[in-house]
Amino acid sequence: MTSLRNVVVLGATGSIGVSTLDVIARHPDRFRVLALTAHRQIDRLFDQIIAFVPRFAVVDEAPAARQLAERLERAGSATVVMHGAKSLEAVAAHADADTVMAAIVGIAGLRPALAAVTAGKQVLLANKEALVTAGPLFMEAVRRCGATLIPIDSEHNAIFQSLPAGYGGDLEAAGVRRILLTASGGPFREWPLEKLADVTPEQACAHPNWVMGRKISVDSATMMNKGLEIIEASWLFNAAEHRIEVVIHPESVIHSLVEYVDGSVIAQLGNPDMRTPIAHALGFPQRIDAGVSYLDLVKTGRLNFLAPDERRFPCLRLAREALRAGGCASALLNAANEVAVAAFLNLQMRFDQIPQLLEGVLASIGNMPLRDLADVFEADARARQSATRWLSQHATSGPAAPSRLTA
Ligand SMILES: NC(=O)c1ccc[n+]([C@@H]2O[C@H](COP(=O)([O-])OP(=O)(O)OC[C@H]3O[C@@H](n4cnc5c(N)ncnc54)[C@H](OP(=O)(O)O)[C@@H]3O)[C@@H](O)[C@H]2O)c1
Repeated sequence: MTSLRNVVVLGATGSIGVSTLDVIARHPDRFRVLALTAHRQIDRLFDQIIAFVPRFAVVDEAPAARQLAERLERAGSATVVMHGAKSLEAVAAHADADTVMAAIVGIAGLRPALAAVTAGKQVLLANKEALVTAGPLFMEAVRRCGATLIPIDSEHNAIFQSLPAGYGGDLEAAGVRRILLTASGGPFREWPLEKLADVTPEQACAHPNWVMGRKISVDSATMMNKGLEIIEASWLFNAAEHRIEVVIHPESVIHSLVEYVDGSVIAQLGNPDMRTPIAHALGFPQRIDAGVSYLDLVKTGRLNFLAPDERRFPCLRLAREALRAGGCASALLNAANEVAVAAFLNLQMRFDQIPQLLEGVLASIGNMPLRDLADVFEADARARQSATRWLSQHATSGPAAPSRLTA
């Protein structure tokens, strides 16, 4: 007999949120949805509320909340609709919540994820930006408040699975030499460098192996996603920057590896489908069906590996530098990157200008100390201002695209 767990899905309408609900729907005997949250996709949230009957729903603004509540009432739903950032934190920390999926994109996900951690929940962390911007504060809260943190990023989930059970944050004691993060290399791994100026949002969002939200898809194309993942891995596993290697693996079948001092390398493999890490984390420590097709190694045939090229992907170097610098350097980098990606998706600047903007912002601000959450948000605001200034001075419109897109 397993007891029913109450799950809160922060960012339910996004790519990870939808995959989470897909897994939950397969296990009505294990999971009940306590709360769902959305930002702009109110129609999708309405459908999810009707299907999963949560006690609470959270949207961004009061008018949208009112309209949704009226629609739900007409449909006979008793779900309570709330709005605003404080409501996100309230559902994340709700006394009846057992498990919280933190799948809001960007720094907007930091406070609600931290609220779940501080309330001692089982937190399934997809929102890598929470660790990138506030890693030491977040991990200290996990320890202090007795939360259980399970990574959802496929690479970090693979490392979590490849480390010894009950890994306590000491690589040395666990006999680990290196962590190897795999990366597909994104859609432009083999493009001529001079063609990167012509990349359109559609091309950047067409990832060869994964179907993901638009921001992380662009981050994968610049390899900033891997840079953010180096920072995320460092905090999650208490690993120094030089212990984390990146290996390009275009097939995205090996999701990451752990190398031990005796020469053993333990990896986690599977088809590239986020429902695998989501099901692993939801069911942990048990294994539950994810609805994922099983890996056919013979059909897969070859697995290839290459070293990353930092000339093509300067964002990787910038992320390593930020991690080594400490303080608020990673929060500055993250905020500048959020502005840069949104500007690229809005056709306000070229794809190859993304790392130029980041370099410009980091050079103009330098570093800032990280003592508390206020420092993180101060750094975030300063980087956004600096990035907006950079855009007004340097940005060149991207190539014309068939449709105007927003982040
Ligand atoms: N997708 C993947 O395969 C994948 C893999 C590994 C890690 N991740 C990480 O998981 C997180 C989510 O990624 P995703 O691909 O699922 O993103 P996504 O498809 O863009 O979804 C983001 C979710 O966050 C909500 N949201 C956006 N801005 C918000 C705000 N200011 N306040 C509250 N909610 C907000 C969105 O609501 P609306 O849709 O209603 O606007 C949506 O529910 C990211 O941190 C990403 O790096 C994703």
